Amino acid sequence: MKFPELKIGALVPRYPIIQGGMSLRVSTAPLAAAVANAGGIGVIGASAMPVEELRNEIRLARSKTKGIIGINIMFAVRQFAAMVHTAIEEKIDLIITGAGFSRDIFHWGKESGVPIVSIVSSSKLAKIAEKLGAAAIVAEGTEAGGHLGTMRSIDEILPEIVSAVKIPVIAAGGIVDGKGIAKAIRMGASGVQMATRFVMSTECAVSDAFKQMYLKATAEDVVVITSPVGMPGRALHNDFTDKILNKAAPKPEACDGCLKDCSREYCIFQALENSRIGQVDQGVVFTGQNVYKINDILPVQEIFDNLIKEFEQEPEIDGY
Ligand SMILES: Cc1cc2nc3c(=O)[nH]c(=O)nc-3n(C[C@H](O)[C@H](O)[C@H](O)COP(=O)(O)O)c2cc1C
Repeated sequence: MKFPELKIGALVPRYPIIQGGMSLRVSTAPLAAAVANAGGIGVIGASAMPVEELRNEIRLARSKTKGIIGINIMFAVRQFAAMVHTAIEEKIDLIITGAGFSRDIFHWGKESGVPIVSIVSSSKLAKIAEKLGAAAIVAEGTEAGGHLGTMRSIDEILPEIVSAVKIPVIAAGGIVDGKGIAKAIRMGASGVQMATRFVMSTECAVSDAFKQMYLKATAEDVVVITSPVGMPGRALHNDFTDKILNKAAPKPEACDGCLKDCSREYCIFQALENSRIGQVDQGVVFTGQNVYKINDILPVQEIFDNLIKEFEQEPEIDGY
């Protein structure tokens, strides 16, 4: 198969592969820059980063690549507007946004010429995003890691979303190899967003303990938890997820009100930060459903080489 062209506004990456944004500090400048250098779109996970840290991350990524760099930001974070403005000031190439909707962001994107990409899980929301001015849609199925907008599979929602909008649709959730990319493209996607595969890269900033949990994971280790954000989330089973499921997770010790709406059942950002720094038993390790299919930690360039080789070996069916 040959890769289709993915056009987001005026941006055309060499390969239609976006590295999914991952908070908290899972996808930072080194990973995003490596993906951009390999010909994809690298994305900094901005949610819950202090504004000045985000500015520094964007500058650091820029110093490492001439490729395409975006940020991913959840609408649910209180600093949403400040972060979007900071990214625009730093001349970010694109902004990918999910977990809620803001009319404003499309307005800010239009004013500055920065394409806005909406993450949605239904054709209804895809149509609204297109009408408001989204340059592309990420259609995210339940196989994805992190907060989930649906319990329906990508195979179910992708055809519905592709036929509902005219802008490019990028498939996300459970894609870990070239075969998975080919399947999404055959179903009408113009590109893919992958995250779990890129956690298993040498450039990803998480602790070795985090990556070792990914390496050892079986299909049965992947669970769905409740998050104080008010959405379910996909993560690896551990003592902490048992506590969450038993409503026994520790209440936040200090709270700076970082989310617009939070149940305060436990602090999701503290739990994500704990696992990132290696305290995996006291934290949440977000992951996609197909983590168990990944058996190696590789440099991003090698991951790309493998994806491209696997994809190009796939037979064309009906033009794809
Ligand atoms: C560790 C981790 C953290 C994530 N954090 C975010 C996030 O902050 N914002 C977001 O929109 N999506 C987040 N996601 C979802 C990814 O960006 C991506 O869309 C999804 O995981 C794709 O599925 P895959 O991991 O199976 O490839 C996260 C995923 C993972 C694995």
